[in-house]
Order: sequence, then C-alpha cells, then structure tokens
Amino acid sequence: MTTHGGGDALFGNEDIAAQVSPDTDVQSAGVVDVSAIDPVLSDPDAVAEVVAPTRDIDTAVGEALLRTENLSVKFGGLVALDSVSFEIRRGEILGLIGPNGAGKTTCFNAITGVYKPSSGTVYFDGAPLTKTKRNAITRLGIARTFQNIRLFSEMTALENVVVGTDARHKTSVPGAIFRTSRHRREERDAIERGMALLEFVGIAPRAVEKAKNLSYGDQRRLEIARALATEPKLLCLDEPAAGFNPAEKSALMDLIRKIRDDGFTVLLIEHDMRLVMGVTDRIVVLEFGKKIADDLPAAIRENPSVIAAYLGVPDDGANEVTGDATNASA
Ligand SMILES: Nc1ncnc2c1ncn2[C@@H]1O[C@H](COP(=O)(O)OP(=O)(O)OP(=O)(O)O)[C@@H](O)[C@H]1O
Ligand SMILES: [Mg+2]
Repeated sequence: MTTHGGGDALFGNEDIAAQVSPDTDVQSAGVVDVSAIDPVLSDPDAVAEVVAPTRDIDTAVGEALLRTENLSVKFGGLVALDSVSFEIRRGEILGLIGPNGAGKTTCFNAITGVYKPSSGTVYFDGAPLTKTKRNAITRLGIARTFQNIRLFSEMTALENVVVGTDARHKTSVPGAIFRTSRHRREERDAIERGMALLEFVGIAPRAVEKAKNLSYGDQRRLEIARALATEPKLLCLDEPAAGFNPAEKSALMDLIRKIRDDGFTVLLIEHDMRLVMGVTDRIVVLEFGKKIADDLPAAIRENPSVIAAYLGVPDDGANEVTGDATNASA
C-alpha cells in the first residue's frame, strides 16, 4: 500500500514491518545555515557541472554493476524471495516488476542491506556485499528511495538533500563544532551541491520550504535528489510514480531518463506498465518471490507467463500486458 506523504506521516507499514527507523540511513549534518541562500539556481551548465562532473556513461559492456546470485529471503515460513539471480548492467535502467507481494521491495531491502538474505549473494562492483552494513553499502554507491516516502518532515527540502551529501563529508566532529574553515567550505559546497540537485529534479524554487509542506509529487522528487546526493553508482527507485497522474508520470519518466543519461545506473520498481515499458532497457519479472522473466521490454510485453502473472489467468498467451497493472492494494 502506498500512502501519500504529509506532515509527520512520512513513513509507512513496510518500514515499520522492517523495523527500520528513519534516521539510520543518513546522519544529521548538524546546523546548516540555509537562510542566506538564493533558492533559484538557473544556469543549466552549472547544474550539470555539479550533478555529473566526471561521470562516464559506461553502457552495458563488461562486468555487471550489480549481480544477485540465488538470492533468497525468508520471513518465518514465507519465502519472499526465492533463489533469484539477475544482473544490472552499467548505464542501464532495469525495471523490476511483478504483482503485489511478488518480492520486489524485499529484493531492494536485500540489496541495500536492510534484510540479511537467508541464502545467496549480492555482488556490487565486483565484490560480495555479504557482510556489508547498510551505511557502508550507501558509501559503496547504492542509493534508494522508498515505496512510502521517508523524509525529515520538519527540515527544509535543501536540508534533506544536504544530509545526503553529508555522507561524503570529511570534517571531524570537533571541526564541525568549532566551525573550522574546512567545515565552512564543506558546508558551502554541500549547499551549492544540494541546490544543484534540487534544480536537477525540478524543485529548486521550493528549497527553503519544509519537506512536509511540499506537494506529494515534490516530496517524491526530493527523495530522488537526496538519494543522488550520496553520489551513487546505482539508484534504486521503489515505485517513484505511485499516486501520480499521467502528466506527473510522464514528467517523472523524463527525469529518470535524465538521471540515466547523466551516467547513473537505475533499478526501477514500478507498477505502471506504460511507464516501465517506456523507460527501461530491460525488465526482470518476479512472481511469488521467483524470477519468471528477464528480457527486453518488447519481449516482456508478450511473455505469456508475465501476462498470466498480471492477469491471474492461465498463460494461454492471448493477452498483452498494457496499462497500469496496479491492483487495488498497491
Ligand atoms: N518484514 C516482513 N515481514 C514479514 N513478511 C514480509 C515482510 N516484508 C515483506 N513481507 C512479505 O513478503 C512478500 C513480498 O513482499 P514485498 O513487499 O517484497 O512485495 P512487493 O513485490 O514489493 O509488493 P508491492 O507491489 O505490494 O509493493 C509479501 O508476502 C509480504 O507480505
Ligand atoms: Mg513493494
């Protein structure tokens, strides 16, 4: 179930079930003075310079950026993810789809270290993540957004992004307390970078607004900006368009393409088939925790098992997967 974020209710059942608290991903940046900044940063070249300064787009050749090998996650007797193997190639947008309860979010949680797999391995950038903790996984370059929006609701949009940037800061705690020149420089850089990211996702004019006062769509964009602030190699988006109208979905698709074109690799969970087909390079389909297909979008659209999984009918191949496959509980 996806709920609209607002006020303090920016966390959802999925997080509560996982016993995840909101502030374990990011550490507070301390006091960030954003009162003096001009919330409009309009030079597109300056934005590009900050968002993707030296990134090479390394498409689909060589070793996969991420690979899961027989990845399984169990909750008591329930096998939520059942020996799933797939890879995400550098520079691609990989769609991860499947009906409600198929194991998509569980797969994200296993990749990002929220859940410990009961068996199997995740390899990222050539190394296994078996013993790697969540914060270390973020530092290695995997960032994510959540199916239920999670933001620091009382912080401004800019502060929410700056806490993401902070994962990269070098200043020691004494440096921050005594506001050394290095700390001030880092703070200024973080603010500039935060503004550039807000501009990149299209919400710079709202920079000094509290997260809780942003529209639902802008909160979703802010989550993406905050994830990008950790300078990830892989950005995992869990239903970023949930609750959007068609125009908002189309704008979000453009943003996801722009993110990929800037050299990030993207793993996208999304129910809306039109969105998934339109934006992804490849698609992995889960059903009851198992991978049932892994192919190009055009082939997925006509795959009888996928059609059957979505329509809940025997796979006679008579139909095609179209439109929004979200059922009432998504
Ligand atoms: N923390 C948990 N404890 C127990 N069961 C869980 C937990 N998280 C997920 N599950 C169960 O694991 C299965 C897969 O859930 P998951 O959230 O990964 O599905 P999903 O594909 O993301 O579905 P949706 O499209 O509804 O978001 C479901 O049966 C779900 O109830
Ligand atoms: Mg989910």
